[in-house]
Amino acid sequence: MRTLILDAVADPERAVEAAARILLARGLVAFPTETVYGLGALGLDPGAVERIFAAKQRPHSDPLILHVADWEQVLPLVGEVPPDAALLARRCWPGPLTLLFPKSERVPDLVTAGSDAVAVRMPAQAVALSLIRRVGVPLAAPSANLFSRPSPTCAAHVLQDLDGRIEAVLDDGPTDVGVESTVLDVRGPTPLILRPGGVSREALEQILGRPVGSANDECRMSSQTIRPSTFDIRTSPGLLTRHYSPRAEVRLYDGEEEAVLAAMRADVQGRADTPAAVLAFTEDLPRFRDLPGTLVDLGSRERLEEVAQSLYAKLRHVDELGIPCVIVRTVPERGLGAAINDRLRRAASGRILKCE
Ligand code: TXA
Ligand code: MG
Repeated sequence: MRTLILDAVADPERAVEAAARILLARGLVAFPTETVYGLGALGLDPGAVERIFAAKQRPHSDPLILHVADWEQVLPLVGEVPPDAALLARRCWPGPLTLLFPKSERVPDLVTAGSDAVAVRMPAQAVALSLIRRVGVPLAAPSANLFSRPSPTCAAHVLQDLDGRIEAVLDDGPTDVGVESTVLDVRGPTPLILRPGGVSREALEQILGRPVGSANDECRMSSQTIRPSTFDIRTSPGLLTRHYSPRAEVRLYDGEEEAVLAAMRADVQGRADTPAAVLAFTEDLPRFRDLPGTLVDLGSRERLEEVAQSLYAKLRHVDELGIPCVIVRTVPERGLGAAINDRLRRAASGRILKCE
């Protein structure tokens, strides 16, 4: 199959029209959202949705988000609207927040992986919204990468993974946010973040006026950290599911700043034979300039929006260079920092090198 590139920068109307036709014929089209590119198909058509799993090599146990253009499209998908969901949708949509609702009969089990909850979001991206409107039904769309690769933040990334496997990619340039939406379960008494993302926990708590939990809190408490001295990739296989992973081994440092920077330097110096790339925050660059190897500027720790925006592109870049090891440190766990740290932890297969 030849994958068409539909240029939405040059001619959005024409590109959206062509994309909509392909989707209505039950094809697959990767499209931009404000977070990352999604791999879209008709969301209520099990035959079309099945093709998403095949193209991505994604296991059927991982459910898909339905993307809508307006509130009217939500109602047929859901059994009821929890009060928190109504409030958050009003305040955060369109935007990088995915809400879980009790699902209606209309939603195929394939979309929810058999769960009685359906994940819905309204993206804040003009081309995405006009595509969903033109198609007239919600689009099922996971991130448009091969399973376990970093999510694509531009059309070229989509093609790296899916060229020849999907009908088309709707190219509207790089995405704004750069990490995926926050996935929030609002069905219980305490709202629970299943995946931190573009809308921060602090923002959700401010809107709801009460604490919001995070599935990562429990995860982090139960997964013990591994000290650099005892760290050995062969004896500590994936503590967490490997996700968002570049091909390179990611060595993620956390802890007291000076100790972390010293350990990162020692790590680079100790691996003369296996080249490493240091992904450093702008503030940290001077600490690594004298060392051999590749130094990549992640952006300022003071501007996490910029760090998030280019994080996946930089992980992919290291893979393109064929560098087998990435050395990086965590950011403060505030605002977008929670999503950035989550993706770094997953890229590191859950292993954190703790320094005191
Ligand atoms: O920003 C985003 O959310 C992007 C863009 C394309 O919208 N989409 C995205 O989809 O990241 P995906 O499939 O790569 O990640 C969706 C996440 C997965 O962790 C999935 O397990 C969770 O949402 N999810 C989807 N439906 C769910 C459900 N019914 N119950 C629990 N989790 C669900
Ligand atoms: Mg994904």
